[in-house]
Amino acid sequence: MNHQNRKLFKGLRARPRRIPLYTSAEHQQGLRRAGRFNAQLMDFVRQHIRPGIRTADIDKLVHEYTLDHGHRPACLGYKGFPKSVCTSVNEVVCHGIPGDYELKPGDIVNVDLTTIVDGWYGDQSETFLVGEVTESARRLVQAAFDALWVGIRAAQPGNTILDIGSAISQLARERGFSVVREYQGHGIGREFHQEPGVPHFPEVGSSRITLVPGMCFTIEPMLNEGTWETVLDRSDGWTVRTRDGRLSAQFEHTILMTESGPEVLTRTEHGPQEGHRF
Ligand code: MF3
Ligand code: CO
Ligand code: CO
Repeated sequence: MNHQNRKLFKGLRARPRRIPLYTSAEHQQGLRRAGRFNAQLMDFVRQHIRPGIRTADIDKLVHEYTLDHGHRPACLGYKGFPKSVCTSVNEVVCHGIPGDYELKPGDIVNVDLTTIVDGWYGDQSETFLVGEVTESARRLVQAAFDALWVGIRAAQPGNTILDIGSAISQLARERGFSVVREYQGHGIGREFHQEPGVPHFPEVGSSRITLVPGMCFTIEPMLNEGTWETVLDRSDGWTVRTRDGRLSAQFEHTILMTESGPEVLTRTEHGPQEGHRF
């Protein structure tokens, strides 16, 4: 290693990953307010999910509620995304674009909300059962919800990112479902997506990132009935589907690491809480 290379290597080592730490009261207040508003929006949207509603109607509800409260939907215009929310129905894994599709009994739909409140981001999603669904769909949604919570419980200061992915993939395996690998949780704060990446499976390398107070990130496992592999819809550039066309379900929360453990910033008042049975 010559001198120049050594300097470069040292420079990279000094900041191996740009993981912002939010330790000041001011920053934490910004994050908490964004998470709280996002959760309030989820409580509002949940009441409207029923057979007959179009995914475009969900988008309108999200868009108007957010603007009426003086905030901004983060999805709208993000890398060209055309709507204010992602709505992912049945075999759609994530990033579904709201449109004319009308929800019908038996569907499962993930609604993924992200809001910007005074420059701070809150991000969460829930999967809803529309009317009566098959037992397999219900079991999948239950597993995705439980996977989120085992991931949250694994996120303790001193543990690593690997512990989150290990806990989630173990639960999925026990329930007979697979975990999507191409899409991950992510650091969040004054940006939508930042370091650290949070894989929902034991990815080599994630053991190098120790969780410390002040880190803020999402956990958002996507579980599939069949294969974990996905396909991106090339005609719209966004919609991600399961390769085999079978169902996919997801839940997401934004988490702030504190000295006493994970603080769920996007906890709702009326939605499913840890331990909920669907
Ligand atoms: N909310 C998604 C996430 O959890 C990202 C959606 S990006 C969009 O990270 F552009 F599709 F809206
Ligand atoms: Co999200
Ligand atoms: Co997210």
